[in-house]
Amino acid sequence: MLSAFTDILTCPVCKNGVSVEDGTLCCLGGKHRFDVAREGYVNLAVGHAPGGDSKQAIAARTSFLQKGYYAPAASALEQAVQDYLPAGATLIDAGCGQGYYDGRLAAKGFRTLGVDLSKFGCARAAKDASAAGLDHAAYAVASVYTMPVHDACADGVVNVFAPCAEQEYARVLKDGGYLFLLGAGPQHLMGLKRAMYENTYQNAERADLPTALQLVETRSVRFEITVEVQNDIEALFSMTPYYWRTSEADKSKLAQLNTLTTEVDMLLYIYRK
Ligand SMILES: C[S@@+](CC[C@H](N)C(=O)[O-])C[C@H]1O[C@@H](n2cnc3c(N)ncnc32)[C@H](O)[C@@H]1O
Repeated sequence: MLSAFTDILTCPVCKNGVSVEDGTLCCLGGKHRFDVAREGYVNLAVGHAPGGDSKQAIAARTSFLQKGYYAPAASALEQAVQDYLPAGATLIDAGCGQGYYDGRLAAKGFRTLGVDLSKFGCARAAKDASAAGLDHAAYAVASVYTMPVHDACADGVVNVFAPCAEQEYARVLKDGGYLFLLGAGPQHLMGLKRAMYENTYQNAERADLPTALQLVETRSVRFEITVEVQNDIEALFSMTPYYWRTSEADKSKLAQLNTLTTEVDMLLYIYRK
């Protein structure tokens, strides 16, 4: 619910603080107003072309994640956040998509603001949070590079398979706050790659790791999944960067499968400001 976040949200135009009145987010400068959507999120991506994941991409990922295939990854993230921050701490999920990870953190008692450029992601996430009675979870459409929040307002930033905007995350974190960065490890989805490609390679180390924040710990999150429905195999594939750069011939190999077993190999980096 957005009214629980007026202490950290800012107007994307004049950077003043905000209030929420009668379904409208108003800047304290008195000049700028933003309607709260029916689902409960607010679009603060001012001057930004519509972007982020499409309605179809959000629907596919929601369906896949709701079946629990990545539940061990969500549990590992929850454990890490709980190891470093007390219940009630304020988290920003930067690139939250459909709110799967921050929704689970909100259910554990954290106060979570999800930020994503996709209005479809924020709509889905806000609807689910409201249905689950999570009044300390809220969503804003915005770029992770220019988040509509005050400096040093967050105890933690969570970032799962989304762009790592180090400077912006450092700006919004309190001194001593933590960044939890979850992404692909070397063997991630090797079974999916083997099903399509003749030659498969390990993933290289990601190129966007923070350099100015202090790395305190790296955790490996590894497990195996068996996906037994063609739609779910397709949904998993659509969540990967390979979706955009695989030939039709290789894609068709995947389309013929009704079951797929694959490694899930993620790395969770924990940084401190
Ligand atoms: C692969 S999805 C991951 C979503 C979610 N964290 C998860 O793991 O389920 C990447 C997300 O980043 C969002 N995104 C990409 N570029 C962004 C940007 N510059 N600012 C905000 N969100 C962005 C997309 O809309 C998408 O929802």
